Order: sequence, then C-alpha cells, then structure tokens
Amino acid sequence: MSSRTIVVCGKGGVGKTTISAMLCRRLAAAPSVRTLAVDADHAGGLGLALGLDPDITLRHVREQSLAELESHVASRKADLHQSVEYRLAEALTERDSLAFLALGRSEAQGCFCAVNAVLKRALAHLSSQFDLTLVDAEAGLEQINRDVVGDIDLLLLVSDTSVKSLRVAEAIQKLATRLGRARSCGLLINRVDDDATARAVHQRTSIPLLGWIPQDDEVTRFDAEARPFFEMSDTPATIAVDRALAPFLLGD
Ligand SMILES: Nc1ncnc2c1ncn2[C@@H]1O[C@H](COP(=O)(O)OP(=O)(O)O)[C@@H](O)[C@H]1O
Ligand SMILES: [Mg+2]
Repeated sequence: MSSRTIVVCGKGGVGKTTISAMLCRRLAAAPSVRTLAVDADHAGGLGLALGLDPDITLRHVREQSLAELESHVASRKADLHQSVEYRLAEALTERDSLAFLALGRSEAQGCFCAVNAVLKRALAHLSSQFDLTLVDAEAGLEQINRDVVGDIDLLLLVSDTSVKSLRVAEAIQKLATRLGRARSCGLLINRVDDDATARAVHQRTSIPLLGWIPQDDEVTRFDAEARPFFEMSDTPATIAVDRALAPFLLGD
C-alpha cells in the first residue's frame, strides 16, 4: 500500500480529537496498515484520549537539534539530519500497528529556521515509512498553511450541526484548494442522531459528505474517566466512524 495522509480539521470543539482517537483505535487493530498518528494540537488532546503520554515530543526534537547546531556538535547538515531522524524515531510511542508522535507545546523563543527545514524533511521521510499518517490538527487554518505535513490525501473536515462550524470547514477547504494542498476533502458531521438531520445540515454546504456520527454516551463516559479509546468496545459512534472511513483507511 502506498503512503497516504489524512488530516482531521475543523472548528474547536466539534470532535476532531474524538474522531481521530476512534480512527486510531481502528487502525491499531489493523495489522496490515502501519499508521503514524500525529497529535498536532499543542494542547495535546489525542495523547490523552489514547492514554499515551510520550516523554519526547517534536518540540524537544526541535529544541535539542537547535542546541546541537548552535554548539557546533553537528557542524555538517548531514550530521544534523541524521540526529534529527534518530531523535524523531525516539519520540515515537508504539501501540500495536500504530506509532504515535506529539508536537508538544512550543515554549522556547527564538528562530528555529535552521532546523525547521531539516525537521520537515525528516518528518516527510518518517511519514513515508508508514502506510497511513493521521494528523489531528489544531482548530483553524494554521496547519494547512504551515506545512507541518506534506501532501494531504484526505482533508477530513469535521463539523457539528452549527452553521458556524460548517463555515469554518468551508474556509479550511477553500484555503486547502487555493494552496493546492489536498487531493480530496470530505465532511463528517458529528453529534447528529439521524440521517434526515445529517442531510439537512449537508444541504448547506457543497463539501462531499462521508458520513455522520451520533452523539454517544460511551464517548462521554470515556472522556469523563480519561479512559484510553483503545479500550472502547464497538459502539454507535465507532461503528459510524469505521463505516465512513473504511474505504479510505483500508484502501478498498
Ligand atoms: N460523538 C460524540 N458523542 C459524545 N461526545 C462527543 C462526541 N464527539 C465529541 N464529543 C465530546 O465533545 C467534546 C469536544 O470534542 P473534541 O474531540 O475534543 O473536539 P476538538 O478536538 O474538535 O476540539 C469532548 O468532550 C468530547 O468527548
Ligand atoms: Mg482536539
């Protein structure tokens, strides 16, 4: 299977992390698909939903690499590249067929331009070693712009039933189209309870509909108890997510 990238985007609070966690649950149990899951929200919600709390984040890799460059330990670009790749590999937490990488909160000030290009190349290389890269993006448009990830095969736009969140999804789609960043876009409408409501919401937008996810008490319970989504049994929300994304995830 060739390497593909899904980026989960949308307004804050619509369910991006919840849906990403349900996708990770599915993918970790699919040995034929090696997945790299990236928590690209600096607040770090996906790690919490998965019960993964890595000691090393991309932020550490960036800061250590800059320190190395400034202390001239890595005097040649090739040395820096090698140590960045090594550190990135160390930052991965594995769970069955899934590897997890967190961006982490960026606290340090200063210019990271010298390492950013190397980091971007190393990330692209890392991602190419997996069948699938799944990115839980932060709210808004920034990460489409910032090129944290390379080509996006599926821009997964999540919205609830509010017009506001649909407009945010459309704005992200528009920007991605203008920048030529996404090969395809699809909409998941979260927290709706029937097909008629989902269709009525979808009438207000031209983004292709992949499916809708019901409001689910099991999700609420897992969230309240901070239980890892890997432990969740099949429930209406997970079944709906699996169904909506199955053709894309498993390459059928
Ligand atoms: N289908 C759902 N059923 C029940 N609760 C949900 C569902 N989707 C999201 N939530 C809840 O909504 C809140 C926001 O979801 P979250 O995934 O963190 O949003 P985002 O990542 O887009 O900011 C969380 O408390 C989450 O548990
Ligand atoms: Mg989130």
